[in-house]
Amino acid sequence: MNSLVVYFSRVGENSVNGKIEVIEKGYTEILALQIAKKTGSHVFKLEPVNPYPRDYQECVKRAQNEGFVDYLHDDFKVDDYDVIFLGFPNWWRSYPRIVATFIKNNNWIGKTIIPFCTNEEGAFGIGESELKASVKGAIIKEGFAERGTNVTNCEDKLDAWLKRVF
Ligand SMILES: Cc1cc2nc3c(=O)[nH]c(=O)nc-3n(C[C@H](O)[C@H](O)[C@H](O)COP(=O)(O)O)c2cc1C
Repeated sequence: MNSLVVYFSRVGENSVNGKIEVIEKGYTEILALQIAKKTGSHVFKLEPVNPYPRDYQECVKRAQNEGFVDYLHDDFKVDDYDVIFLGFPNWWRSYPRIVATFIKNNNWIGKTIIPFCTNEEGAFGIGESELKASVKGAIIKEGFAERGTNVTNCEDKLDAWLKRVF
């Protein structure tokens, strides 16, 4: 079985427990790399052609009404994989539009998708239900949601989830 961890994650200013701080390794990335290591999966990081602003408020503003987003290596497809861990931060109660674009650009028939998300407090928001409505013919397994600030402190919960879904 071929498995892949594909994710989007951002660095720069972020709201950390209500305060603006600069982070140089995104929370979703930290979680994605743990999942990849534990499952022996390949990794693919989604990177926008036009980087998101490092300024938190500017990023929030851009993300609010964003349409589809051009990303680097848009020829990358999930075709070679059976199981795809799909990771993202919760943005505006769902996933960032770069992730929506990646979902739209791929054929998910026969794939197993295992979503994971980091957030400030809102878990997946409507992200899991939007995902279910956006992919045709895939099995979507139970997702894993964790607060960004807790991604280095959730190993037991992560292991228990991986045992259930993988
Ligand atoms: C544009 C934007 C919108 C966000 N919207 C939400 C939200 O609706 N709910 C929530 O719980 N967290 C929200 N957050 C916080 C992020 O989900 C959280 O900090 C996440 O762990 C960041 O992951 P990253 O470091 O991998 O980018 C938002 C952050 C940004 C930058």
